[in-house]
Amino acid sequence: MKFHVLTLFPEMIENGLRTSITGRALEKGLLSLDTVNIRDFAGNKHGKVDDYPYGGGAGMVMQAEPVYAAHQYVTARAGRPLRTVYLTPQGRTFHQEMAEEFAKEEELVLLCGHYEGIDERVLEEIVTDFVSIGDYVLTGGELPAMVMIDTISRLVEGVLNNETSAEFESFHDSLLEYPQYSRPEVWRGKAVPPVLLSGHHGNVEKWRREQSIRRTAKWRPDLLEKADLTDKEKELLKKEKESLKGEEKWDSIGEKNLKNWLRM
Ligand code: ADE
Repeated sequence: MKFHVLTLFPEMIENGLRTSITGRALEKGLLSLDTVNIRDFAGNKHGKVDDYPYGGGAGMVMQAEPVYAAHQYVTARAGRPLRTVYLTPQGRTFHQEMAEEFAKEEELVLLCGHYEGIDERVLEEIVTDFVSIGDYVLTGGELPAMVMIDTISRLVEGVLNNETSAEFESFHDSLLEYPQYSRPEVWRGKAVPPVLLSGHHGNVEKWRREQSIRRTAKWRPDLLEKADLTDKEKELLKKEKESLKGEEKWDSIGEKNLKNWLRM
């Protein structure tokens, strides 16, 4: 899959993504990253790409023409129109299903804004998807673009070592992932759940599925509406909901550790 990133800070994107798992996938040619510096399309010798907002107000606005020219450069090379994402807090909130949808594209353009945003007119011309990564405001679209690229990349075949590992994790099937354990068997008096040491594959799978349902009911009950559960699992869920009422949640575990940290 090929990502084109239109940005004023290409080095930020390069440094962030040519590392770790995405870095390895880029080296292997499973992914391709094309960072395009919008400043190269400034059309003036000072490389100026922003100006004061009409009507007044704080900050500067990225001008339409350099963004448009950078986008034209990318689509002309591709020889066809490309799905183009503008990263903005005003967009639809990014989630796993959206990542799965974008992963079907062969090429994707990501447009990163800065300052007070980009001239509306060019957005109207080139953007197919307005995406936010959450209800908070960052200094620019580069980190959001990297979040999107990272999330989409791990869905591309071959990027993760274990082909199945993207399938059995948080948000797949709208369920959270089951808890994981590794050596030692007992750590600070805490033992690994015995079923995981039993070598009985069927029982392990059953336990993991139950844990996924339990965890989702406990921490993200909002996700359960979309989960595809068997009748038996729905029964289990009903019972779990009752027993969960008195159970400790992450918040209280966190609170306890926070108090220790403050030595209260
Ligand atoms: N640019 C600034 N903040 C953003 C956010 N939360 N999501 C996407 N792009 C952004």
